[in-house]
Amino acid sequence: MKVRDLNASDIPQLMALDAATNSHPWDISHWQHSLKADVCLGIDGNTELAAFAVAMKMVDEAELLLIAVQPKLQGKGLGQIIFNTLTQKLAKNGAQSLFLEVRESNRKARRFYESAGFAETGIRPAYYPAASGAGREDALIFAMMMSKA
Ligand SMILES: CC(C)(COP(=O)(O)OP(=O)(O)OC[C@H]1O[C@@H](n2cnc3c(N)ncnc32)[C@H](O)[C@@H]1OP(=O)(O)O)[C@@H](O)C(=O)NCCC(=O)NCCS
Repeated sequence: MKVRDLNASDIPQLMALDAATNSHPWDISHWQHSLKADVCLGIDGNTELAAFAVAMKMVDEAELLLIAVQPKLQGKGLGQIIFNTLTQKLAKNGAQSLFLEVRESNRKARRFYESAGFAETGIRPAYYPAASGAGREDALIFAMMMSKA
């Protein structure tokens, strides 16, 4: 599985995969900005984008903004492949730590992050609009130190 840098021509596929995996997907201007400013990686499937990962680098730390794998391809190691490539790239660019926020209810993602080496470091109460309907949901903050690649 080849991991590649993403560019503006990928936006339609990025928006489709984001919409399929995220209750509050990014709009086009968010993607346009991120593709210029952030580290954005993807894996091509047979007919569509199979996975993407987006991280914002800030001096010696980075934030994982989004990661997604096509629902029918989840659980086959693609998330791990793209995540490992992303952390190698961030570490080469000087990031020493990586953090992220995840919905408290997203058990699958929380398991994935724990396996990848993250530890829970905090909570942002009522950070997200609820995935289904009214109300708010807490964000858990996860962080990990990265070894130099
Ligand atoms: C979270 C998500 C990206 C994971 O991708 P995936 O391709 O399904 O995950 P993988 O198949 O690579 O991981 C599977 C296994 O490897 C483990 N793993 C992942 N990264 C690892 C790493 N670096 N080292 C060791 N193990 C790892 C996982 O915990 C999991 O273990 P399990 O088999 O015991 O469950 C995917 O489920 C997804 O797109 N979810 C919807 C979008 C989403 O919620 N994104 C996160 C928002 S915060």
